Amino acid sequence: MSIDTSGIIGRSKVLGEVFKIIAKVAPTEATVLVTGETGTGKELLVRAIHRNSRRTGRPLVPVNCGAIPSELLESELFGHEKGAFTHAVKSRTGRFELAEGGTVFLDEIGELDLSLQVKILRFLQEKEFEKVGGSKSIKADVRIVAATNRNLENGVQAGTFRKDLFYRLNVIPIVLPPLRHRGDDILLLADYFLNKYNPRKTRKRLILSSESRSLLLNYSWPGNVRELENYMERMCILCEDLEVRPEDLPEKVLQAGGVEIKPKARQEELPRAGFEWPTLGDMHAKGLSLKDFLENIEDNLLSEALNHSGGVKNQAAEILGIKRTTLIEKLKKKERF
Ligand SMILES: Nc1ncnc2c1ncn2[C@@H]1O[C@H](COP(=O)(O)OP(=O)(O)OP(=O)(O)O)[C@@H](O)[C@H]1O
Ligand SMILES: [Mg+2]
Repeated sequence: MSIDTSGIIGRSKVLGEVFKIIAKVAPTEATVLVTGETGTGKELLVRAIHRNSRRTGRPLVPVNCGAIPSELLESELFGHEKGAFTHAVKSRTGRFELAEGGTVFLDEIGELDLSLQVKILRFLQEKEFEKVGGSKSIKADVRIVAATNRNLENGVQAGTFRKDLFYRLNVIPIVLPPLRHRGDDILLLADYFLNKYNPRKTRKRLILSSESRSLLLNYSWPGNVRELENYMERMCILCEDLEVRPEDLPEKVLQAGGVEIKPKARQEELPRAGFEWPTLGDMHAKGLSLKDFLENIEDNLLSEALNHSGGVKNQAAEILGIKRTTLIEKLKKKERF
């Protein structure tokens, strides 16, 4: 069975097994639950499921259940009637209705609170829902595909995730293997990203030296493909030669390989002589307004935290001292993803 897996790079056996399941499940109406560590490509996979389904000409509507505060999520999903709550001055169409004929992608479904879990379960069983503040049942022809990097079975054990919803979602489980189990896909992906982020398309792209390749193969990739993508983008900006040598690689990768070389001094790692708050002079020198200046500072801190955590949002949020949902909201606003 041939399917369109464009954009998903990898030839490993474990990924091949995932493609086989996709080929079988995509054309059906079955609910699918995609699980896997952060950055393994769950979103890419869900898009491929939709693309290879009969619903492909219709919308794929993603909802990040972890990024929308729970009191707003119900109205986001199902819509609301005018006057349903204080700020409901107009009625609103929810994402289930917007997805009519297509697929709703419930991302980070492990973050859904118990009261909404009941409503999603009802939709899965009866294909109907009510708007917030509405009494009429509305039918929608929508397929649900969900993803999470949490172990929902643990949630069931802990009483934070409904067992009945778990079984209903888990009709076809697809587990995306972590990058460290995909062997040479690591190098295939590294080359792919070096090409993608090649700053000058005319320049020959960066090549990994053989020691660099072994170091990348040896690293455990806690942030998975996203982490690899971030590092390769960084190499494209920082490497001066055409070859990526071990000393160009991030310190974490070197440490894991037991390599003693000091990574090349990078701007963010240069010793700094005492900290001083930026002054008006700095702001004017940049030619920015207060708002843009502050946004730039925030932008830099977010990038630094994400780089530090290898793209793992939980960790980056912790480093920044903000909630994970706040970080995701901020990144959305910056249209980083
Ligand atoms: N096999 C792959 N080929 C090419 N790019 C990939 C692959 N897997 C992941 N990526 C890229 O890595 C990044 C992370 O992927 P994605 O957002 O799908 O991960 P995720 O599993 O949904 O992560 P999270 O759990 O943090 O939401 C994206 O930029 C995506 O395009
Ligand atoms: Mg995701």
